[in-house]
Amino acid sequence: MEIKIKINNKEITAQDGKTILEIAKENNIHIPSLCYHSDLTPKASCRLCLVNIKGINNPQTSCSIIAQDGMEIETNTPELAMLRKTNLELLSAQHKEECPDCVLQYNCQLLKLAKELKADILKFSDRKKDFPLIEFGPSVVFDSSKCIDCRNCVEACANQSVGYLEIENKKGFNQITPSKTKSCIYCGLCITHCPVGALEAKSEFEQVEEPLKNKNKILVFQFAPSIRSSIGEEFEMPQGAIVTDQLVGAIKQLGADYVFDVSCGADFTTFEEAKEMVEKFESGKPSLLMSSCCPAWVRFVEKYYPEFIPNIATSRPPHIILGGLIKTYWAAKEKISPKKIFVVSIMPCVAKKYEITRKEMLFKYNGANFAPVDYVLTTRELAYLLKKRGIDLAKATPQKADNPFGEPSGSGVIYGASGGVMESAIRTATKILGNNGNPVAVDFPKVRGQEGIKVGQVELNGKILNVAAVSGTGNAKIVLEQLKKNPDLYQCVEVMACPGGCIGGGGQPLPQDKQIRQKRAQALYNIDEKKKTRTAFDNPDLKKIYKDFLKNEKIIKQICHTEYKNPKS
Ligand code: SF4
Ligand code: SF4
Ligand code: SF4
Ligand code: FES
Repeated sequence: MEIKIKINNKEITAQDGKTILEIAKENNIHIPSLCYHSDLTPKASCRLCLVNIKGINNPQTSCSIIAQDGMEIETNTPELAMLRKTNLELLSAQHKEECPDCVLQYNCQLLKLAKELKADILKFSDRKKDFPLIEFGPSVVFDSSKCIDCRNCVEACANQSVGYLEIENKKGFNQITPSKTKSCIYCGLCITHCPVGALEAKSEFEQVEEPLKNKNKILVFQFAPSIRSSIGEEFEMPQGAIVTDQLVGAIKQLGADYVFDVSCGADFTTFEEAKEMVEKFESGKPSLLMSSCCPAWVRFVEKYYPEFIPNIATSRPPHIILGGLIKTYWAAKEKISPKKIFVVSIMPCVAKKYEITRKEMLFKYNGANFAPVDYVLTTRELAYLLKKRGIDLAKATPQKADNPFGEPSGSGVIYGASGGVMESAIRTATKILGNNGNPVAVDFPKVRGQEGIKVGQVELNGKILNVAAVSGTGNAKIVLEQLKKNPDLYQCVEVMACPGGCIGGGGQPLPQDKQIRQKRAQALYNIDEKKKTRTAFDNPDLKKIYKDFLKNEKIIKQICHTEYKNPKS
């Protein structure tokens, strides 16, 4: 049903059931807001989005009031401006400002609002200055001295069906506290929903800055599929702008010796996962196969549904396979000692920081132990590093990624969106099986889009496979509970822990919402559509490396596969 309201005397028609703030946003009417996030229920804690509603005495929070037919609303009186300014100054007394050390300093909502509202955020002394820094494992850091008690992180974590964040009353504040009984899965969604940077990825750019200065190592950067359509936002470029070649140029300008594209690693993951799919399929009664490239999802299974561990694909994640190939195949080809190579993965993800610490990701080759990747930086960390060095991505000279890991198939690129891993595996599985000599379909639109659970049927050589592509572990829980009751419901399940997949990852530029995620994902599908090679199966570099290096099952297992067990911590 439609309603008619007036905002600042402008007549507006809107859908019933929306908040005033939502309607204002849809109509490009700016109302300052901080604690509101379109993924979450409004908590109305910051009180910056105040508006006047005719007939109601006191200003109201526009994020929590559902607009009613005939409402007349004012958003920009001097009194409202004064109230917002005061509220922001009071709020800032709960947030210890340490801007020079903060990774958000170039893109901070709080600072932007302070400028807009002409608020003095240092007016009141910091009431939380003694509050501690708390680490959630190797991926996430919570600076409780910056927390403004909005509880967005608690809801984001509960929506993941994890519930690691609890609220305790400490020194008169409702303080966020990690659970003593539950385990964090390092998805980073608490970070992407925190409006003031109190939660952040554990920072590693300092460790990367050192080898960038001291060039006694060969520095190899590899960037994930989803980065190419997200990092531009950090440099005032439009949402969903494709910046693949500028990104390579900017990373080279930073000091990297080689830049490779993790989408090429995704082609290897796809090829191996498609082989697992075909193997199960040819066994007569295909059993359940679940994707393994999202470390937060894998940890969710290990911690909360360990009975499904045997169903997780053994194919290693793309940046791990690529790191392994860089330190073995490529090092030998280039006559470089693997010990001299330092691999940095640029990831949309904070869980990848945890992933590279897992012993399951290490491998043995020619009698030596290898860690495929030395450091993981998030998209935000790379943007910070570039800005710190005065490198503007928008002005960087475009360059192609280095070969032989610079030209992925379209399949490798769509890995960054929910459903992309599944679609890629189906494309290559269909090719492996030959589709009874019939032309092979490439597009599987049923597993695309921003919905949390997408289901479809795929025909492989005349047999039907039921598939599901899931994003968010809260949705994964629904699917796992269904599978517990009916194990034949799906044969292939892809899960990415973040909304919309890695394009909505915990390390991606902020802010992010459904529309932004949609634009980032669409950009990846646009790249895929234009690619000459759209399946991992047809990637000529991959074919050559299987022929020259991944020649037998032993070496394929060493570089491309692992096994998951229930981790101790
Ligand atoms: S990283 Fe994910 S699981 Fe851990 S506290 Fe944040 S939202 Fe919860
Ligand atoms: S950590 Fe951030 S999201 Fe969580 S309550 Fe504090 S300010 Fe809000
Ligand atoms: S969906 Fe992507 S960004 Fe999010 S936790 Fe998984 S791998 Fe990381
Ligand atoms: S955005 Fe409405 S109260 Fe914070």
